[in-house]
Amino acid sequence: MWAEDMSAAYDEYLVPAVFRPYADDLASRVARHRPGVVLELAAGTGVLTQTMRARLPGTRITATDLNLAMVEVGSAKVPSATWRQADAVQLPFGDASVDLVACQFGVMFFPDRAAAYAEARRVLRPGGELLLMVYNRHSARRVLLWPVLAARHRLVAGARTPEEWLRYANDGTAEGEPAPYTDFVSPAELRGMLYGMQDVRIERRSIDRVPLGRWEISRARLMKLGLDRLVGLDLYATARA
Ligand SMILES: C[S@@+](CC[C@H](N)C(=O)[O-])C[C@H]1O[C@@H](n2cnc3c(N)ncnc32)[C@H](O)[C@@H]1O
Repeated sequence: MWAEDMSAAYDEYLVPAVFRPYADDLASRVARHRPGVVLELAAGTGVLTQTMRARLPGTRITATDLNLAMVEVGSAKVPSATWRQADAVQLPFGDASVDLVACQFGVMFFPDRAAAYAEARRVLRPGGELLLMVYNRHSARRVLLWPVLAARHRLVAGARTPEEWLRYANDGTAEGEPAPYTDFVSPAELRGMLYGMQDVRIERRSIDRVPLGRWEISRARLMKLGLDRLVGLDLYATARA
């Protein structure tokens, strides 16, 4: 379960170290569609919300998350978006009321992923877009995430171990049940989950770069060497309702 200190720690440690590069990438994909009304699922503390807001100043953005503590941190960070606590599998929004649904690293935590996709389709207007980003199961992304969580465990008194964090930090239900799918998903699983939507496109991407002290390996170099297949293959899915 996300305690309030968990949300603050997530925002302080994990967002800059892990999630921001993805948010920049996903927000630029969202902006290409020029949506008038965006609904964000599992928005966390608002890293994607913030980058979407910067790129789409005139768009109505509603950011949602199951956990109130995350919503509170997010709404303080991006007050120009509308924030609401909402379970992705039961959205409190009308049919065909949204141009685009965006979700960054949320799908794997939903207790019923099929129900969440059905809900996304329901709230999307016909022809509206669903944009998702998830971790690829066949990636060493987890291996990179582990040291960040382990460092936090060592440095912050009472912090969970990485395993406990990944297993329990993301609620599967509003009651605080552990998430059913803390693992990452494969392209085939993702395609299967989006069955029934139009124009499903799944793109694999590498993370931005691997910092190594004063040096770094760029995304271009990783891809040239084929190492992007090992170091952070991430999946972006786009589909139309
Ligand atoms: C890894 S975080 C990603 C947060 C944010 N999108 C980001 O990129 O920083 C996963 C988020 O999913 C949320 N979550 C888990 N289950 C959910 C559900 N059923 N409905 C909505 N959000 C959920 C958690 O509260 C958490 O904020």
